[in-house]
Amino acid sequence: MKLSLTQDQVESRYRTYHQRINAALSRCFTTSSPETLYAPARYILEGKGKRIRPFLTLLACEAVSGSSDKALDAALGVEILHNFTLMHDDIMDKADLRHGRPTVHLKWDENTAILSGDMMIAFAYECALRTDTDRRAELVHILNDANITICEGQALDIELEKSSHATIDDYLDMISKKTGRLISAALEAGGVVGNASDEQLRALVTFGEKIGRAFQVQDDYLDIMADDGKSGKIPGGDVINGKKTYLLLRSLELTSGHAHDTLQSIIDNKGIEPERVADIRTIFEQCGVLEEARQLINRDTEDALSSLDTLPFAEERDYLKGFALKLMKRDF
Ligand code: IPE
Ligand code: IPE
Ligand code: MG
Ligand code: MG
Ligand code: MG
Repeated sequence: MKLSLTQDQVESRYRTYHQRINAALSRCFTTSSPETLYAPARYILEGKGKRIRPFLTLLACEAVSGSSDKALDAALGVEILHNFTLMHDDIMDKADLRHGRPTVHLKWDENTAILSGDMMIAFAYECALRTDTDRRAELVHILNDANITICEGQALDIELEKSSHATIDDYLDMISKKTGRLISAALEAGGVVGNASDEQLRALVTFGEKIGRAFQVQDDYLDIMADDGKSGKIPGGDVINGKKTYLLLRSLELTSGHAHDTLQSIIDNKGIEPERVADIRTIFEQCGVLEEARQLINRDTEDALSSLDTLPFAEERDYLKGFALKLMKRDF
């Protein structure tokens, strides 16, 4: 894949826009009272979030020749909506750690995390409505569609957790909803602010769906394989809680004998003791599933890149492509 930019140029734009997004986020939720409503929103947004989705919103706007300044409010809406989903997801996944810090429901309590997350949804829509565009109704529709689709995906995630006959296709459908749609919506929102045509929006959405799927497979990989502490989450949280991930479902097909029985026990018992995470990691390393996950990520990323070829502005389009290549190799 030949780009008109170097990976350093992509890195540098990511760093600059990351700071711009963080500066704008720090001006949200400045209300001091009630403290237990607004402090959790400030806390989750102060964490080390990668800001992938708002970055994509800004880049998508530029890729259809818009100005990213105009897309900043829409980008904030997307990132705040994403952080609401993280706050509630951590309750659902019984997760103790995010961004290397206690999750909101542990630092405060579950009711606080539910309520603060609810408030963040409304705040996200206010950001969308403040965006400098005539196409605000479309923006709100995109956020609503993403929000509903994430809820579908999260419901399927919990149903799969309980199911004893989940397939890889069930998993792929679930992740396209819980993760893929918000990533494609981030791009679509940027395109709308940049006044994209229907064809351009379709290209951005397809790109988002592909990188979204690759992104969640990589998230599942890093959940158990990330170098110590790098994920900012409890290592192996997914197997401890019996989550159906690509690694678990595919390695069940690739193993036999004792290794297979051990993996099957995760399904049967809906999880495994934290002390046994290292054994599971060894099975994943030995059965070939890590290479298969890598191939799936590479294939989706390649498809994502080619879906952008219809966009007219080569340089801005290449920032999106360069960022997809960076995401494919991420270890954070
Ligand atoms: C985490 O998303 C939730 C998933 C969809 C996998 P990110 O990994 O983008 O989370 P932050 O925003 O960087 O914390
Ligand atoms: C994330 O899936 C989905 C949403 C937040 C909607 P995960 O449950 O795998 O995300 P992490 O790993 O906790 O960030
Ligand atoms: Mg989850
Ligand atoms: Mg989770
Ligand atoms: Mg995860």
